[in-house]
Amino acid sequence: MARHLITSALPYINGIKHLGNMVGSMLPADVYSRYLRQRGHDVLYICATDEHGTPAELAAKEQGIPVDAFCAQAHDAQKAVYDGFALAFDYFGRSSSPENREITQHFARRLNENGFIEERAIRQVYSPVDGRFLPDRYVEGTCPHCGYDKARGDQCENCTRVLDPTDLINPRSAISGSTDLEIRETKHLFLLQSKLQNEVEAWVSRHEADWPQLASSIARKWLTEGLHDRAITRDLDWGVPVPADTWPELAAEGKVFYVWFDAPIEYIGATKEWSDQDPENRDWKSWWYDVDDSVRYTEFMAKDNVPFHTVMFPATELGVREPWKKVDFVKAFNWLTYYGGKFSTSQKRGVFTDQALDILPADYWRYFLIANAPESDDSSFTWEHFTATVNKDLADTLGNFVNRVLSFSKKRFGDDVPAGGEPGAAEARLGEQIAELLAEYEAQMEALQFRKAAAALRALWSAGNSYLEEKAPWLEIKTNKDGAALTLRTAMNLIHLYSVVSEPFIPATAKTMREAFALAGDTAAWVTADEARSLVSVPAGTPFTVPPVLFAKLTDEDLETYKERFGGESSAA
Ligand code: 2FM
Ligand code: ZN
Repeated sequence: MARHLITSALPYINGIKHLGNMVGSMLPADVYSRYLRQRGHDVLYICATDEHGTPAELAAKEQGIPVDAFCAQAHDAQKAVYDGFALAFDYFGRSSSPENREITQHFARRLNENGFIEERAIRQVYSPVDGRFLPDRYVEGTCPHCGYDKARGDQCENCTRVLDPTDLINPRSAISGSTDLEIRETKHLFLLQSKLQNEVEAWVSRHEADWPQLASSIARKWLTEGLHDRAITRDLDWGVPVPADTWPELAAEGKVFYVWFDAPIEYIGATKEWSDQDPENRDWKSWWYDVDDSVRYTEFMAKDNVPFHTVMFPATELGVREPWKKVDFVKAFNWLTYYGGKFSTSQKRGVFTDQALDILPADYWRYFLIANAPESDDSSFTWEHFTATVNKDLADTLGNFVNRVLSFSKKRFGDDVPAGGEPGAAEARLGEQIAELLAEYEAQMEALQFRKAAAALRALWSAGNSYLEEKAPWLEIKTNKDGAALTLRTAMNLIHLYSVVSEPFIPATAKTMREAFALAGDTAAWVTADEARSLVSVPAGTPFTVPPVLFAKLTDEDLETYKERFGGESSAA
């Protein structure tokens, strides 16, 4: 029994996330954590809101509230949606916590002591009207290359050229529109990643064979381009302050760490938040410090986050020269698109997680998203595909099976699992098939191949339907009542097996299915191969109830309503 540390990329604080964010990090991490817990592993699944940086400051300003109040509210709003999705975090923290501040400052001091931090003066755009330095993307102006008049200081969206804010013609503040801008010299801390290049390279070489190709190829690309020294501080109000004991001058100027410096450290910070809530029983360090291979650490993220997790955060951890746990397995995802175009928070295109829950319960989304996770390539969300999948897999294959078996049995045999009949060739064949599919499902889950795991789960559900069609208890009962009882009892055992093994994907429905049986001592977390083969865990005489329809079938009218509300196609090129 290994100890599994699991984290999913920390969602930015501002804005409710869309389905693309959900499927690329938190949801698969939850499915995997649930699976491992059911298999008896000691699991710690940690996530948090990523709260620092300019976007949070600006969003708070727009709402006219202090940034800490904005973040507290936004954190709770996100957490409520994740609860709605049944994400079973062990802890969902906040990167603005005192714990993260303490650990981030500690990391910075250690990096400094080890010669990996240097103070450098840089020239930056200052806006007297806004009373602040402007980050590159908050300086707007006319592109010197193509004349586009809304080019940002980091890049021209029109001609895609990379820019420096000083390149812009007629520069103005994107915050206030003020054109009264100055260039001022200001000091910042630089992380000397170039000095860590060889170590990071050696570390990646030792691990990349175990990573999915998507993760290792991105890590390699960054290493080939070479690690550059990076400014890790910013002139902002909202962030982890530079510690005054080490950099009194910068601290006095109010410098804070750059959000991408403290965000990954919050994986550790949030674990300490969790620990601080119950220090008697929880030990954050036992998950992170000097643990070697006794903990297996798996990270979930979308591909844009891969460089930070495979190269930059490991560089930070290596430079600290303390034995902090580094990632073992990087599960990276491609993009989920909306009708082939981008889901976009800023342009409000696609389906947001709160809207999704307004429409249908979490299990519909959980199953669809994981079954279509953008693992080997981008995958596209369309309402047509979503409704067809729900109808076929969830309503017809699983839901209908459960309802048909239980209602028919109740009608013909009453409120208990029926007795009679001896398992024969059909049951032996079914048992073999179920045991095989279960092994396949387990293997795919262990390999973190979510689409393939979903396919195996779907095949388990289908096998029940085929068995039922083959035995046709509704005909059997006319000539062989014991035979029909055996068929229904076997099918009910399948339902119970489904209730156990489907839980990582559809936890609420799994619970409903399981609770249909008043089975004494029903606490097993998983199903053994022998149990799968014999299908007798739910014996004759077990009382059961018929649950309400598990999954509603979506109609053409539903489809039209969704398309109308959300837009049936992408407006992106
Ligand atoms: O890309 C993002 O959404 C970031 N907020 C992810 C941070 S992951 C971690 F390093 F904190
Ligand atoms: Zn341009």
